[in-house]
Amino acid sequence: MAEKTITLTDNSNGKSTELSLMGGTEGPEVMDISSLYRDMGIFTYDPGFVATASCHSSITYIDGDEGILRYRGYPIEQLARQSNFLEVAYLLLYGELPTMNQCEEFQDIIRYHTMIKETLKSFFDGFHYDAHPMGIMVGVVGSLSAFYHDSLDIHDPRHREISAHRMIAKMPTIAAASFKHNIGEPFIYPRNDLDYCANFLHMMFATPCEDYEPDPVAVKAMNLLFILHADHEQNASTSTVRLSGSSQANPFACIAAGIASLWGPAHGGANEAVLNMLQEIGDVSQIDKYLAKAKDKDDSFRLMGFGHRVYKNFDPRATIIREVCHEVLENLADNNNPLFELALRLEEVALEDDYFVERKLYPNVDFYSGIIYRALGIPNNMFTVMFAIARTVGWVAHWMEMMSDPQQRIGRPRQIYTGASERDYIPMADR
Ligand code: ACO
Repeated sequence: MAEKTITLTDNSNGKSTELSLMGGTEGPEVMDISSLYRDMGIFTYDPGFVATASCHSSITYIDGDEGILRYRGYPIEQLARQSNFLEVAYLLLYGELPTMNQCEEFQDIIRYHTMIKETLKSFFDGFHYDAHPMGIMVGVVGSLSAFYHDSLDIHDPRHREISAHRMIAKMPTIAAASFKHNIGEPFIYPRNDLDYCANFLHMMFATPCEDYEPDPVAVKAMNLLFILHADHEQNASTSTVRLSGSSQANPFACIAAGIASLWGPAHGGANEAVLNMLQEIGDVSQIDKYLAKAKDKDDSFRLMGFGHRVYKNFDPRATIIREVCHEVLENLADNNNPLFELALRLEEVALEDDYFVERKLYPNVDFYSGIIYRALGIPNNMFTVMFAIARTVGWVAHWMEMMSDPQQRIGRPRQIYTGASERDYIPMADR
């Protein structure tokens, strides 16, 4: 089939270029604009990358209009109901669901790497007791870049794989240690006889004086939330990891950059912000007041957990979590959860409001996730940390994909310069 092209001509100077249209397995056609500057001396402008593809990727597919999310082709609804987090991690990293043997081997490898170096533990002491756990995560995960020199040749695929395994395995240990530091309790070592999520709950809630038996309902809920948060193609934090990694930077430092980006309330920080917002609203009688604030352009307040750059009808993850909220809260004997009732009512009222309807603003993944985390005993300031543990899988999958992509080049956006034109230096005495 002939290549589809679009010819672009600047009538003012007759310069012209042929822009070819590229296609993936699904999704809209993409115009290759790489010849635009070469042939016509023109850049493109797309703040926030609303219509710009930055790479080829075979990991995750989203159709925002239809509310579709698939990991490696598998619908998120099927994975959420039938899989577990480490199986999904394998799928995202390697492209296929594991066989029984592959799955067991992968679990063993991840278990093998759960401990952190004893010297790393002392890094936590440098943080004040009330440091936000995400601040600790940025610092401590970044500091991993100073360890593991034996396997840091990023041009060696095996080294890259070992780094990926280390990050997935150590993230829960570092996350739980951030929490323990925050509440002034001793760190709890990982228990490798437990599965990934049960081990995390153990490190969070056991103490040296008292063991903790993870509740199977809590373990199942955490597996589900981790699956839903594991990847979301070229979102802000993943793009941050890719851009940092494009300079061939240390992978642990790149993941720390991803954590920093995730922390923002417009991204993963929203789950903490939603719970804080629901607590502030407090009661259904206050809903109208807060909706009015969200609609007021002179007020910086936004309805947290609402709206998404890509999903314009519904976020399939939010639909799954809303359903699971009912099950989890009932099974954890927390079925009279006033914040969940408030969230349901807030969603109902917002979805009937012209402001939200016209702008296609729907609940996103974070509108309900905090309610489940709270029911599991996870404090608000750990919600985004939970997101970071899960998204680490997506980050490393994208980093590995990028590092093996022959078209990979250092990321280097251009700009529209709006500063002063050339002018002469004025000696201080003359200013
Ligand atoms: N509350 C009130 N108004 C909103 C909201 C909201 N939550 N979200 C968007 N809007 C309005 C904007 O004011 C804008 O209105 P206008 O056209 O009259 O100016 C319009 O809807 C479009 O919003 P943008 O900010 O341009 O949309 P964008 O795609 O850039 O941002 C974002 C998406 C950041 C998610 C935004 O909807 C938001 O801030 N939501 C709240 C934070 C949140 O829940 N973030 C989590 C996202 S999911 C995730 O990262 C895992």
